[in-house]
Amino acid sequence: MTSNKKKPRLVVSTGAGISAESGIKTFRDADGLWENYPVMDVASADGFRRNPALIHQFYNERRRQLGTVRPNRAHEILHELEEHFDVCVITQNVDDLHERAGSTEVVHLHGELTKVRALDNPDLTYRLESYDTATTPETRIDGHRVRPHIVFFQEAVPMFEPATQLAAEADIFVIVGTSLVVYPAAALLNYVRRGVPVYYIDPNPSKVPDGVIVIREKATEGMARLAEILLKKI
Ligand code: OAD
Repeated sequence: MTSNKKKPRLVVSTGAGISAESGIKTFRDADGLWENYPVMDVASADGFRRNPALIHQFYNERRRQLGTVRPNRAHEILHELEEHFDVCVITQNVDDLHERAGSTEVVHLHGELTKVRALDNPDLTYRLESYDTATTPETRIDGHRVRPHIVFFQEAVPMFEPATQLAAEADIFVIVGTSLVVYPAAALLNYVRRGVPVYYIDPNPSKVPDGVIVIREKATEGMARLAEILLKKI
């Protein structure tokens, strides 16, 4: 039997914490990436102007590592929830673990490791052949020199505007594994309609407005608990 009932819109904002149990380091936890690399050298527009080779190398390494890890239960549960919910994932992550877990609607706020884009035309993006494909400032694709398809600090976040519209569509809004310190991503919550239930899964949560239901657990456990809560309600 099938039902014509419209599925509730579940909008999920994810950060580095959801991929931590897959083996990808977060940025700001102890031993996080920004403790081991000077962030303004490897992730800013100024850094890219100063030393593009270093930035290509940094993202080549991140991409190569991405090829060695797999989605975890938290990514998988988000995909499984599509059976009962109209799920949209808005991620700050540049990995492709949501897609590899099967999620069908994924918006990347901060770009994607598996892609590069033309330096002379930001609308021209190219998917690299493999996780091991490395690029340098001299790499040309279709005659264009390319850069990592990553939003650097000091740059605009073109996907933020569409993301705010998605946040406003939410019937249920969920935040997973983010320190909520990087803007504008952290401001998405402000676009959620009044009265919509908001859950925040993080073992070390940041301060959030009253009314947000905090699940103080790692992503895999927290997502399992959340799925239980949500499935009971439908
Ligand atoms: P952060 O490193 O700032 O925060 C990671 C969050 O994940 C923290 O709140 C941790 O408590 C939480 N966490 C750690 N392990 C977890 C687990 N197993 N399950 C769930 N949560 C866990 O990462 P983001 O908030 O994603 O941007 O960082 C935002 C942006 O800052 C990134 O997209 C990146 C960075 O600079 C760019 O590089 C453009």
